[in-house]
Amino acid sequence: MRISTALSLFLFCFSSALADSASGDSKKLYKPKDAECTITSPYSENFFDLNKLKRTPGAAPPQMDWQVKGLDYGANFSINICAPVLADTSKVEGIDEAGRANVGAYYEKNGTIYSIGSVSTTPQFRGRKLILAYENGSPCPNAPELRKAALMSLMCDHEQFHKPSIAFVGQFNDCAYFFEVRTAAACPTLNQAQALGPGAVFGAIMGVFVLVYLIGGIFYQRTVMHARGWRQIPHYHAWAATLNFFWVRLFVAPILFILRILSFITCGRLGSSGRRSTSIRRSSSSIEQAGWKRHDEWA
Ligand SMILES: *[C@@H]1O[C@H](CO)[C@@H](O)[C@H](O)[C@H]1NC(C)=O
Ligand SMILES: *[C@@H]1O[C@H](CO)[C@@H](O)[C@H](O)[C@H]1NC(C)=O
Repeated sequence: MRISTALSLFLFCFSSALADSASGDSKKLYKPKDAECTITSPYSENFFDLNKLKRTPGAAPPQMDWQVKGLDYGANFSINICAPVLADTSKVEGIDEAGRANVGAYYEKNGTIYSIGSVSTTPQFRGRKLILAYENGSPCPNAPELRKAALMSLMCDHEQFHKPSIAFVGQFNDCAYFFEVRTAAACPTLNQAQALGPGAVFGAIMGVFVLVYLIGGIFYQRTVMHARGWRQIPHYHAWAATLNFFWVRLFVAPILFILRILSFITCGRLGSSGRRSTSIRRSSSSIEQAGWKRHDEWA
């Protein structure tokens, strides 16, 4: 009776834990914050990872900032995504020491380097548009209290897999700059951190299967067969025989085998000492009493 109480308590706890993890609400409660330079769309739950667009210093072969032609603007732009530009920004116009390490995009005109924004690692969704905004660049020429800023619109383009195609769309008052970034990195992907792998899905299905088998089987054994104690477990005799088989094969037989080798080595060297051989014989006969009839296999 105590066994069945413990078993039903265990099954109750196990099934409620399973129900907790399976309920849809927990997904919202424990949803991890998006990692740097990634975002989950609030509309489609699609996952976007812009880390592939990040240029890193010290990479082999050496990398450069993304180069964007300014065309009629009269200057070209250098941009990094989710990381500060790799180029030297120690002489950038109107930015303090700390800000110089965080320049995300710049251009050079008439020998002066102008920042068009500090780096941001948090892409955003405006409606269905994936955007990345850099702010706090060099002071705007006509309004020194304002600072240059750049707005990038990221668009999914499977053709742009190895590098993005960045186009300068336009600017206003040498203060606000707009870019269009076509890249495969802006195409939705599966979030590796949140998605269940095939192994986990298989494990969950197997777990449910075992649970249904146990609960259904115990219910049947109790109510129809009027079984009590351990016999409530479905196919109790088959499971017990299987367990016994593995117990003997995996534990008892190897231990016995090692004991026999040890006794062979020690007795062979010392000459057969009566005390050791009787102890071995006693242990093997006790195994025999425990239900193992294959003793002759080792003789
Ligand atoms: C911008 O780059 C192009 C080549 O990529 C070059 O021909 C042009 O002179 C550059 N413009 C400026 C203002 O440096
Ligand atoms: C370039 O800068 C110098 C001073 O540094 C200035 O005299 C000159 O007018 C500037 N040229 C242009 C085209 O802005």
